[in-house]
Amino acid sequence: MNYTKILGTGSYLPERVMLNSELEAMVDTSDEWIQARTGIKERHIAREDETTCDMCEQAALNAIQAADIDPSEIDLIVLATSTPDLIYPSTACLLQARLGVSNTCAAFDVQAACSGFVYAFSIAEKFIQSGSVKKALVVGADANSKILDWTDRGTCVLFGDGAGAIILEASDEPGVYATRLHADGSHAHLLQVPSGVSKPTGDPFIRMSGNEVFKFAVNAMGSIVDETLQECGLSKSDIDWLVPHQANQRIIKATARKLGVTMDKVILTVAEHGNTSGGSIPLALDTGIRDGRIKRGDKLFLEAVGSGFTWGSIVLKY
Ligand code: UT7
Repeated sequence: MNYTKILGTGSYLPERVMLNSELEAMVDTSDEWIQARTGIKERHIAREDETTCDMCEQAALNAIQAADIDPSEIDLIVLATSTPDLIYPSTACLLQARLGVSNTCAAFDVQAACSGFVYAFSIAEKFIQSGSVKKALVVGADANSKILDWTDRGTCVLFGDGAGAIILEASDEPGVYATRLHADGSHAHLLQVPSGVSKPTGDPFIRMSGNEVFKFAVNAMGSIVDETLQECGLSKSDIDWLVPHQANQRIIKATARKLGVTMDKVILTVAEHGNTSGGSIPLALDTGIRDGRIKRGDKLFLEAVGSGFTWGSIVLKY
């Protein structure tokens, strides 16, 4: 059996930073409310002409450089996004061409909203485990600003744009200890973009029953801690870092409590990034690795919950 290791990480955030004070001028909200309820201080917003693929390209080039590989070595591209550039081809295919490796590897998108990166990582890991792939590029990115209703205070204060990427490689030793994926489509109505292709209802914006999503997220993240540790035979004290999906600092605090880690062992980027959906975990991972907190040999617990509902976790040694 092949294990999977992270060879390198990269990320990208759009240049424009939007502060809570700007939102105060747009909707009936306050910096105080946003910070108290979510922990968010600011978020990055893509330019009008800046796409998800543009952000993915920068994050992927960063990760390729950190991994010190040539793009031609990549055997697989899995890209998690809910805000693709086009209906088709996939953003993964567009990215493949940008990286100059057309026709050298399989490339596809994964759509699992805020859990997208955990899904994409888990899929790539299975390809590596089976021996059919040696090196995979996994990207998570969303341009949420393009699907926000800037008059809806229940959503527009929460989200941001950004991308993160990792290069995974087959290894003789762990690596990834466990991955867990869940979905429960009966909650679809609680967090959705109601408009689609075969069902164009005319509402193309994120709609969310925030408090119900919040309660589900706290419960799901709590139970996935026990389930994941049990699967890999590790205990809470083995975990060095929690690298969570960055939706709400209160959800993250509850998960950290459940995992028995103090907040100084949590990579927290929600204050500066907001919720970047598919981009959030790889952005946090890259932040923790580049600032030197996450070191080789550290054991990480990654977890996310999002629309679907979908949720999942990964335990790995960096
Ligand atoms: O990444 C995918 C998963 N997404 C999430 O995990 C998000 C989960 N949900 C949340 O993070 C939280 O539910 C929110 C941050 C969205 C809201 O926090 P809450 O503590 O659940 O507040 P609430 O929805 O119960 O609303 C409390 C009050 C309401 O007013 P009343 O009814 O008490 O008068 C809301 O209308 O806060 C009001 N409110 C706001 N006030 C100021 C809602 N949004 C805002 C706002 N500014 N932006």
